[in-house]
Amino acid sequence: MQHDLVIRNARVVTSGGVSLCSIGITGGQIEALGTHLDGEEVIDARGLIAMPGGIDSHVHISQPSGPGIEMADDFASATRAAACGGNTTVMPFCLPEDGQSLRDAVTAYLAKAEGQCLTDVSLHLIVKSVDPVTLGQDLPALIAQGMTSFKVFMTYQGMRLTDAEILQVMDVAREQGALTMVHAENEDAIEFLRDKAERDGRTQPVHHARTRPVPVEREATHRATTLAEVADVPVMIVHVSNGAALDEIQRARARGVRVFAETCPQYITLTADDLDRAGFEGAKWVCSPPPRDTDEQAAIWAGLEQGAFDVFSSDHCPFRFADKAGKDAPGARTSFRNIPNGIPGIETRLPILFSEGVTKGRISLERFATLTATNNARIYGLESKGSIAIGKDADIVLWDPSLTRRISQDDLHHGSDYTPWEGFEVTGWPVRTILRGQTTMLNGAPVGNPDGRHIARTKPDATP
Ligand code: URP
Ligand code: ZN
Ligand code: ZN
Ligand code: ZN
Repeated sequence: MQHDLVIRNARVVTSGGVSLCSIGITGGQIEALGTHLDGEEVIDARGLIAMPGGIDSHVHISQPSGPGIEMADDFASATRAAACGGNTTVMPFCLPEDGQSLRDAVTAYLAKAEGQCLTDVSLHLIVKSVDPVTLGQDLPALIAQGMTSFKVFMTYQGMRLTDAEILQVMDVAREQGALTMVHAENEDAIEFLRDKAERDGRTQPVHHARTRPVPVEREATHRATTLAEVADVPVMIVHVSNGAALDEIQRARARGVRVFAETCPQYITLTADDLDRAGFEGAKWVCSPPPRDTDEQAAIWAGLEQGAFDVFSSDHCPFRFADKAGKDAPGARTSFRNIPNGIPGIETRLPILFSEGVTKGRISLERFATLTATNNARIYGLESKGSIAIGKDADIVLWDPSLTRRISQDDLHHGSDYTPWEGFEVTGWPVRTILRGQTTMLNGAPVGNPDGRHIARTKPDATP
């Protein structure tokens, strides 16, 4: 049999383990795994590792971000950076503008993505209001169209839902078979600490971290998992930053609640000290929940090693420094309160976990694939994706495990004008990304046409 493309001599990571074999690709799908495969085109991947293409299941692209502030990435730049970082699918959130219906917001997002994407895309929804149209019409219609997961926020003025509202949304999730994702931080506690800090003149970026301490996240994580228990739905706790929150998740699981957990590169590599840089520089590291300390990093690592985390995503939420610091003059912001939350990380997620996890011997190649692609596909219902297996989309990333690089803004492809990991050394870097059989990145450069599609999903797998 002649395949369109054969990848030879790679160490191939599948659910069954790691083996030296060839991958035969035809019509954009994996047609054969074995030896002696022939293809019209052959890639010799000797010395490289073939992994399922990364699925970044938590990113923000072109999201409305408040008056005068523009997110640094549109779909073209975000997916270009994603492909260069070894990803083949990204899952951005659709946030309605104030007054816009969820359905209209989705239409507008899909139009922005159309023809722009170097990865496949599959939207999550954000539910920021529980009006009858959103709950009774838009959500069921959009879930039926394959947008089978949505996020609710327990923090951020204008976005947060009350417990009563979250229960209403979870009830729709239960009826329609969708997955609820929760941003778990206690807004009242944050506001109390923030108002106090401002009254005392503590307004520098580091006070963003100090006014969102671990108990604020721990309590909200307990409440989110309890609400899921009451509503009898599975729940995904996103961007878990510390051991106490993870303990709440484990306790809920022990009670039989179906809880998934996500963590991100910032919680294994950055600390609150990064927000404490001179001037307003620390604004570059402001995200929520904030990075913690090395003890909490160790707790997150233990969770990654022991399987307490299901997925590892970036929470890419890119701004330019001028927007972080205040538009007219750097440092013009009077308080950390006004710094847009979020950091860029779509291109560096996989190299950071590979280097800190696989290269340093903390996790296996199989666990890496599970956390960065396989579980992301399984949990969110991306049936054709997430594994190197016959019949799946040929979404593959080739890694050079011995390539050592220093992360540098100069080499990245995102729209932000900085990276929180400037100078961070990693060993292991993706050298070729393949989306449905077509190369989208080669040796660090994006290639090919933006052929990414929006992928409708099946009902999520509610089995943790
Ligand atoms: O600071 C963050 N993480 N911004 C992105 C929005 C969110 O909460 O995920
Ligand atoms: Zn052919
Ligand atoms: Zn969040
Ligand atoms: Zn996020």
